[in-house]
This record gives sequence, C-alpha cells and structure tokens, in this order.
Amino acid sequence: MSATVIAPLDDLVPGTVKRFEIEGRLVAVVRIDDSVYAIGDTCSHGNVSLSEGEVLCDDLELECWKHGSTFSLITGEPLMLPAIKPVPVYSASVVDGNIVIDVERSTPASTPDPEGAES
Ligand code: FES
Repeated sequence: MSATVIAPLDDLVPGTVKRFEIEGRLVAVVRIDDSVYAIGDTCSHGNVSLSEGEVLCDDLELECWKHGSTFSLITGEPLMLPAIKPVPVYSASVVDGNIVIDVERSTPASTPDPEGAES
C-alpha cells in the first residue's frame, strides 16, 4: 500500500486538525486553506494526541495541548520546549477533492540529515 484516500477535503474545516488511523499509524491531518499536512499524532514529549491541540495557521504549526510544544507541519520538528524530538511527517496532498496521505513516504526534516552533521 502507498497513498491512501482518507476523506473528502470538505470533511476537514480549514484551520482544523483531525486524527486518522492509516495503515496502523495515528496521523494528525491538518487543513490550512486548501492545503493539507500530515504529521504523527502522538506528541514526542508524552502520550498525547496532537490532533486535540490547536492549529497555528500562520506559522504552519500544531500545538500540543498538554505542555504547549509546537511542531512544524513541514518538518515535524518541535519549535517550543519541552518537546525536543521531532514527530514524523507524511506526504499529504489533495487529489480530485480528496485528501490523500502516504504514510510510507515520510518527509524527513526539511533538509536531509547528512551523516556526521553536527550542531
Ligand atoms: S505531552 Fe506534548 S508537550 Fe508535553
């Protein structure tokens, strides 16, 4: 399996997030205007559903309701403590008015992680 049609785009109100289980993975699917984003639904700081958090449309982030960490919808990286580990990012698109997610195509952080990269 690869890309999965999960719902009509119209099922998701702009500026909101909804949780889907896709091939055994819990995925938070976010709609901002007519674009969709998909990241792992479980906060990397605790066993909390990110889809119960708030969508920060202008920043393309999803905020964990528990302690306030925000995660980039583009890279999955946490942008606010206390979370320090990223969540997975999945390929998400709109095809013929339907939301299509491919959980086998994780999008790693914006740039590839070259081996030996130091920070
Ligand atoms: S459980 Fe999400 S920030 Fe703590």
